[in-house]
Amino acid sequence: MGIFSTNKETVDISGIKLPEHVGIIMDGNGRWAKKRGLPRTAGHKQGAETFRKIARYCSDIGIKHLTMYAFSTENWTRPVQEVETLMRYFKDYLEEALRDFADDTIALRFLGDISRFSPELQELMIKNETLSASHEGMILNLAMNYGGRDELVHAFKEMAKKIQSGELAPNDINEKLVSDYLYTKGQPDPDLIIRPSGEHRTSNFLLWQSAYSEYYIDDVLWPDYTPDHLNRALIEYSKRSRRFGGV
Ligand code: IPE
Ligand code: IPE
Ligand code: MG
Repeated sequence: MGIFSTNKETVDISGIKLPEHVGIIMDGNGRWAKKRGLPRTAGHKQGAETFRKIARYCSDIGIKHLTMYAFSTENWTRPVQEVETLMRYFKDYLEEALRDFADDTIALRFLGDISRFSPELQELMIKNETLSASHEGMILNLAMNYGGRDELVHAFKEMAKKIQSGELAPNDINEKLVSDYLYTKGQPDPDLIIRPSGEHRTSNFLLWQSAYSEYYIDDVLWPDYTPDHLNRALIEYSKRSRRFGGV
């Protein structure tokens, strides 16, 4: 257990088979705040703390790839003040990660079209990605301005450009090649996708990559999510029979 671990876990996961890649749709911040009579932004503040704790916990227990859905291509439609507050929390986290990167083993990556963020945020993202690239612990993918459909459109455009320039032939296109044009290039597909807050939908998360992912829905709202909630999902995952269309 790392020094940041809460060490309060009561659900024992020792000896179970862990997923290599876990995806989490961090949902329920707004409802968490509403239940307390607080503004939605208070939920995002608490949600950001939960994100730090769960990312650290995943790294501590040996998860190799963690993808956290932080901001979707559709989330820009929210009120300006809410979006601005989220951007501030992203900035706080990225500055903190940069400050601490030398002591860390986590490699940060960003999934999504980051050109839509402010120049300041983009710079923080690129610096974090570059400086942590050699870290050999967990790869932490932050899906920001991410949409599964947008990712595929981006991939199709890139492939079309290569076809136009003669570098690629239509017959070269296969599933492996498409995967190589996605933001997750080189990483395994998610084995387990967790959605807290009780919603049973993907909301545009890793559409291509989740073809055979195991889903786990939890009713707890993201700000209240703890390592034990994750442990329960991991135990259930370890008992599932994955057949990938076979028998
Ligand atoms: C997730 O919580 C955070 C983001 C989508 C950025 P929500 O803000 O969606 O919270 P609910 O779903 O409204 O409760
Ligand atoms: C999905 O949650 C996006 C993130 C968690 C970043 P949303 O709250 O945006 O999804 P919907 O609107 O409930 O489908
Ligand atoms: Mg939501």
